[in-house]
Amino acid sequence: MADVIPFPSPSARPERSSEPTRTEDFLWWRDGVIYQIYPRSFMDSDGDGVGDLQGLIDRLDYLAGAPDSLGVDALWLSPIYPSPGHDFGYDISDYENIDPLFGSLEVFDALVKACHARGIRVVMDLVMNHTSHQHPWFLEARSSLDNPKRDWYLWQNAGPGGRAPNHWRAVFGGRAWEWDETSQQFYYHMFLKEQPDLNWRNPQVVARLHEMIRFWMKRGVDGFRLDVVNCYFKDEKLRANPFTPGLRPFDMQRHVYDRDRPELVGALQGLRRVTDEYPETMMVGEVMGHDAQLAARYVGNGHDQLHQAFNFTWLKLPWKPNPFLRAILDWEAALPPGAWPCHVLNNHDVDRFVTRAGGGCYADARAKVAATLLLTMRGTPYLYYGEELGLPNTPIPRGEIVDPPGKQYWPFYLGRDPARTPMPWDGSTYGGFSTAKPWLRLNKDVQTRNVAVQKADPTSIFNVYRHLLKLRRTSLALRRGMFRSLQRKPKQMLAYLRVHPQQTMLVLLNFSRRKATEQIDATLPEGHWRVRFSTHPGEHARLVGGRAILQPNEAVILEKVLSE
Ligand code: GLC
Repeated sequence: MADVIPFPSPSARPERSSEPTRTEDFLWWRDGVIYQIYPRSFMDSDGDGVGDLQGLIDRLDYLAGAPDSLGVDALWLSPIYPSPGHDFGYDISDYENIDPLFGSLEVFDALVKACHARGIRVVMDLVMNHTSHQHPWFLEARSSLDNPKRDWYLWQNAGPGGRAPNHWRAVFGGRAWEWDETSQQFYYHMFLKEQPDLNWRNPQVVARLHEMIRFWMKRGVDGFRLDVVNCYFKDEKLRANPFTPGLRPFDMQRHVYDRDRPELVGALQGLRRVTDEYPETMMVGEVMGHDAQLAARYVGNGHDQLHQAFNFTWLKLPWKPNPFLRAILDWEAALPPGAWPCHVLNNHDVDRFVTRAGGGCYADARAKVAATLLLTMRGTPYLYYGEELGLPNTPIPRGEIVDPPGKQYWPFYLGRDPARTPMPWDGSTYGGFSTAKPWLRLNKDVQTRNVAVQKADPTSIFNVYRHLLKLRRTSLALRRGMFRSLQRKPKQMLAYLRVHPQQTMLVLLNFSRRKATEQIDATLPEGHWRVRFSTHPGEHARLVGGRAILQPNEAVILEKVLSE
């Protein structure tokens, strides 16, 4: 079928294609695509089975700057600071250094330089809700009741009969209060007991954290992902969270007093003042919870809040068009005017998309449709390493589990290891990731699912991502255009427009493994549509009399052809 599809009626007018290129006002965190690296698992250069920064430098061509690169604009690195590793880096023992496991400050500087030379921005993960229990601040704080750093953490006397101050629970299981024998008080930890929470009400703590942020900006860091940003403040009176039904004890409390406290707004303003000292520095907040309204609270259109916040709603949705459409519209409605959304299908804390969405033998086809959804959204897309290969969860036998919650707390929970396995580069021993046995096993299908195989296959998931990234980069509509749904209650497919004054794109996504025919909005602008991308080259979508017809698991992007 022809490449130009008339809808709803053919037009005889001459056609002109709009081909906007990367514009002057390309703002990296708004217009770009951000790629999350779990450094332990990306590339090992020194043969200890754990990924490191030199390994990442060696693989930068894969990400950007070479003709066959994936083509991302920024990297977000999960924590690489010194850490005893109880939560694999999310327990920091020195904020201004690099863990020797990953390299050194010199290697880090080399990484930033190499990234910038390729036009890649660098985002660091800032874990400021808590430190490691081995951080010198905590070691000092716990040494005695009158230590000057005592108040840097959250201490409480025992209640009657030695009881904990209240019933708050820790995310990873157990209660959130740990008894400290030495100083005879409880300290608070939202996560592991090896992760004591900092006291954000203490101005010295805040000033020291600000200083630390400047330390990294001076080294060239472009942005920060703020770990569990909505947990910084807990209720001063330690009031009890109301009960709510849930599966895990942590979920059986409505977290109204141990997070999302009003004081956070002032703290974010302070952080914003500091990051604004370096133009174009971006902050994205991890907001715990699956709630668009909540995430939207912390994103600003002015200069006093976060640039972006993660809304994790997508991560719990079934692979069905209607729930996705509702989530997209809710997110758009929740954000204050002028605020910028972001979208995510994967990260290091959740089951990988292809495993969540299922689909059996259709899993790869589904991954391509999901990629098209993510990369045609209004809002910054975040990718997670391996997503571009359709990497599934890798089951980890119980004896090999290393993630703390998987290891210790819930008998049926296998933890987050399955989504953190090494990047499969090729079919050689250890997948080209390392010369030694990796810290976690590789995906079972490493022989067929790896970078080398997918790069060579023009129809691979990798090449779909690559193509979509390129299209997004050169398309004003996909980067900046308004989102307009063409459906009320989608059944099998999503149909939406991205509308920019200079370009209009139409996106059609069949979520199902059956052929789909659905009525779409009759107000679709008249004219010709040119296919810009299709998962089914040659037999792609048809638009017939107000209906879209899609092949099973087909994704297609059409551009409105401008008439003279
Ligand atoms: C965030 C991180 C997660 C970590 C937790 C505690 O949720 O994404 O990996 O375990 O914070 O820092």
